[in-house]
Amino acid sequence: MKRVLVTGGLGFIGTSLVPKLHGRFGAEIRILDNMSNPSGDLVIADGIEVVEADVRDAAAVRKAVKGMDAVVHLAAHTRVIDSIEDPQLNFDINTTGTFNVLEAMRQEDVPSLVNASTGGAILGEVPPPINEDIAAKPASPYGASKLAGEGYCWAYAQSYGLKAASLRFSNIYGPNSRRKSSVVAAFIKNIRDTGAVTVYGDGTQTRDYLFVDDLTDGIVRAIETGAAGTYQLGFGKPTSVNTLIDIIREATGTNFSVTYEPARAGEILHTYCDIAKARGAIGYNPTTELDEGVRRTWDWFETSGHA
Ligand SMILES: NC(=O)c1ccc[n+]([C@@H]2O[C@H](COP(=O)([O-])OP(=O)(O)OC[C@H]3O[C@@H](n4cnc5c(N)ncnc54)[C@H](O)[C@@H]3O)[C@@H](O)[C@H]2O)c1
Repeated sequence: MKRVLVTGGLGFIGTSLVPKLHGRFGAEIRILDNMSNPSGDLVIADGIEVVEADVRDAAAVRKAVKGMDAVVHLAAHTRVIDSIEDPQLNFDINTTGTFNVLEAMRQEDVPSLVNASTGGAILGEVPPPINEDIAAKPASPYGASKLAGEGYCWAYAQSYGLKAASLRFSNIYGPNSRRKSSVVAAFIKNIRDTGAVTVYGDGTQTRDYLFVDDLTDGIVRAIETGAAGTYQLGFGKPTSVNTLIDIIREATGTNFSVTYEPARAGEILHTYCDIAKARGAIGYNPTTELDEGVRRTWDWFETSGHA
């Protein structure tokens, strides 16, 4: 049985990942989370321990890492727009936080890390599909902090033999996203609350939307296969925001109004991933089409409500 520390394990992605690691694969889980943005939906079963602490606190991170076989590092300051408003806070949580996790692992001889990274925000505006070999030119402090985290993962692998996989998530959506402001969750909440959504830009911008269950299957595969290096985890298809709106209308049978506002700084126009490397190396295989995933997310909001 593996003992796995999941930082940020109470958040949106952690809430899908932790039961999977615990239930399907029998892992004992310790979560380190500062409770700043918990989903509120994770059931804390026997064999799941929660430590309330901050990744900026090196001593607390070292204590939490002690005795683990692997770490999944999800805790982060996750919003591009917030990072533009407060780049120092973003640096402290994301870059120093990731450094603290790696340094604690070195000190406590914990061999294996899965580090949550990001695709588009790291690379900046490049012709899609994006792959792992494209030179990174982040368009926001968030992207820069994630790139720095990846850099430290490489350095700790080379210098200390730690096995680290940085998984570059695309745009993740799905159940347990009531606290998220990413586009699918924001649209669904706005439709339910006001019958209206706001698009920043003309809606032709494209993203690679990936259902959370497919992502967390990929994270589990990365742990099982002992993956190292950098992998794009997306669905592998571009969808414009205008097409997403059509899909939401169709999948949910609702009608709503759409307002267009100027595009926001730091957000890239077009991105989607080439996922061939992850498919080949870790057996990553996302299967949930966007219409099905949107329906399942909508149904989750219908039954669970949102704050
Ligand atoms: N959701 C996406 O579309 C997406 C895309 C690319 C990358 N990612 C990355 O995946 C990871 C998880 O994202 P998520 O969507 O689940 O975010 P989330 O905000 O739902 O979850 C993050 C969790 O980390 C905790 N946290 C935040 N700051 C912390 C700190 N300083 N110390 C300890 N805990 C802290 C929060 O309380 C929360 O429970 C992040 O690293 C994020 O950058 C997410």
